[in-house]
Amino acid sequence: MTAKRKVGILISGRGSNMQSLARAMATPNFPAEPAVVISNRPEAEGLDWAAERGIPTVTIDHKAFATRMAFEARLHQSLLDHGVDLICNAGFMRMLTGSFVDRWRDRQLNIHPSLLPAFPGLKTHERVLQQGILITGCTVHFIRTEMDAGPIIAQAAVAVLPSDTPETLGARVLKAEHKLYPLALRLVASGQATVENETVKFTLEPQEPMPLFVPASNLTTLG
Ligand code: GAR
Repeated sequence: MTAKRKVGILISGRGSNMQSLARAMATPNFPAEPAVVISNRPEAEGLDWAAERGIPTVTIDHKAFATRMAFEARLHQSLLDHGVDLICNAGFMRMLTGSFVDRWRDRQLNIHPSLLPAFPGLKTHERVLQQGILITGCTVHFIRTEMDAGPIIAQAAVAVLPSDTPETLGARVLKAEHKLYPLALRLVASGQATVENETVKFTLEPQEPMPLFVPASNLTTLG
């Protein structure tokens, strides 16, 4: 068996996507393993969860650095120190400069709670509801310097209900995120999803259906 890819997970808060990635990586034959969880906020709830499970954790408080570059230099070094070869941003709420993004080009993933390129940025579910969108979802993509942009690896669609609030819709999308991110990481870590000409090419056997659709009432179809 080829060596597992070592994953550095970047968080800023709750870390529920980090948990879903760590749980997936703990299953047999997953082609990646967690190397470190790094938070830019000391109070991030996800740090305790990871530490309790024996995953190394590091806090790099961005407020302690005079410049973005200095923060990113420490972040980069910490990732190298832990032997990381793939980064998963999981609710990591810091914009990264071009120099950091270029160093990890096609080796850094992000998850965002919309069907990108629609609705990058914050308050996604509020904006979806305001605009009367009927189908939303989530996206895992390779990171580029623009916010929530880059070659798309996987998407899941989630139906919007007339009764939805940002909270109920966000909760349903989050459940889809927890299924989608491990799937996308598996594709990348196993070499089945690679970037060519700024789009992702897949070598899937057998071909898996994508995008995944998540009816509002039934999340089991995501497998
Ligand atoms: C998730 O919904 C993730 O998609 C979003 O932050 C949340 C983090 O939750 N990320 C973005 O909006 C990135 N632009 P979590 O800490 O429980 O994983």
